[in-house]
Amino acid sequence: MDQFQVKAGRYFCEAVDLTQLAKTEGTPAYVYSRAMLRHHCESLRAAFQGYPTQACFAVKALSNLSVLKEIFGCGFGADLVSAGELERALLAGAPADKIVFSGVGKQAHEIERALNANIMMFNIESPFEVEMIATLAKTMGKVAAVSIRVNPNIDAQTNAKITTGLYSTKFGIAEHDLPALLDAIRRQPGLKLVALGCHIGSQILDLNPLRDAARQMAGLCQSVRQLGFELKHIDMGGGLGIRYRHEDPPSVQSYAATLIDEIKSTGLSLIIEPGRSLVGNIGILLTRVINVKKTPDRHFVVVDAAMNDLVRPTLYESYHTIEGVVTSPAHVSERSLCDIVGPICESGDYLGKDRLMTLPNPGDLLMVRGCGAYAASMASQYNSRPRAPELLVDGGAYKVARKRETLASLWADENDGLG
Ligand code: LLP
Repeated sequence: MDQFQVKAGRYFCEAVDLTQLAKTEGTPAYVYSRAMLRHHCESLRAAFQGYPTQACFAVKALSNLSVLKEIFGCGFGADLVSAGELERALLAGAPADKIVFSGVGKQAHEIERALNANIMMFNIESPFEVEMIATLAKTMGKVAAVSIRVNPNIDAQTNAKITTGLYSTKFGIAEHDLPALLDAIRRQPGLKLVALGCHIGSQILDLNPLRDAARQMAGLCQSVRQLGFELKHIDMGGGLGIRYRHEDPPSVQSYAATLIDEIKSTGLSLIIEPGRSLVGNIGILLTRVINVKKTPDRHFVVVDAAMNDLVRPTLYESYHTIEGVVTSPAHVSERSLCDIVGPICESGDYLGKDRLMTLPNPGDLLMVRGCGAYAASMASQYNSRPRAPELLVDGGAYKVARKRETLASLWADENDGLG
């Protein structure tokens, strides 16, 4: 259900002409399809319908309030990792009792805020956090519901920087360390253990590691129950991959079936924390060609978007499909080897490398696909570049879900020493 389609030789998002949109809103700009977002939310819900499941959207993937509102409106909760994400989620209408707080470095003020908001649970990642959350909860006269994030030492077979289920990573508690942690939790009247969870990585394309992790988690849940803990949930994290190029990601149905098959014997309700699979393909980055430069080696297509707008290619060597917004039926022989690069002063500033493409002209529009997840949410102002706007298309209309930053906003919080 791709809502970025060519009509009469130019790309549209739903019924909005991207050429026109670029003229009105300028470039670079992130463009999201509401129809695709709804479709992904619905498909995920349908896939898990046969088993009590709460999906908590990983807010880090795309944290724009308008998008969050849509997602929470579809019945999703939130998985989050900071006070900022917590406030965003609450502002956008996430029900507090569907919020999971994860992350290895929760700070006291964040925990207090989350306790005040009465969130569903904290995913505990270390013995230190047991003490910290228990003490804060006690002081506030509360009992904090907690889950233990287990590190199952399973390789999710994905990029090393987004692999999180191995002992070599900072995440979770090894099975070997569980008994001591459980004892510590039992001794704390301010804590109630309600779940075990794991998250082994992101952009996972093979269900086998997820199956292994689910099996391990189900077994652990049974052992923990035998120790007298009354668990309610099993949290299998996020991680389902998407197609950026030639990938063949598992369907959401097979993903659901795999998890449910492994954990249903526990009878525990299932929590999942999808990010990328919901929003990755709903967005593009619209950018205009500034100039084309030929070197002895290749052509450089210099565009007005850069690594500050999309850091994934240089950070993870990720591939994003890049196409002309106005399509030309060029023969393969007319194509040139190009790198699509931004104006930032680093050789790492590229959106695409080694692409065979028809040489665009200055002023032409390009679209970079797969920019729904971890694009705007990872944007920076490096090189004092204002962050690009986020446009949420709905049929033939669109909403400016986030305005383009102004130059003045870049230094608004700085003390210039002049006044
Ligand atoms: N739950 C937890 C605890 C997580 O750490 C993450 C992502 C998710 C859920 C959502 O995972 P997803 O369904 O999106 O795979 N910036 C990287 C991805 C980092 C993912 C970090 N954790 C990228 O651009 O590929």
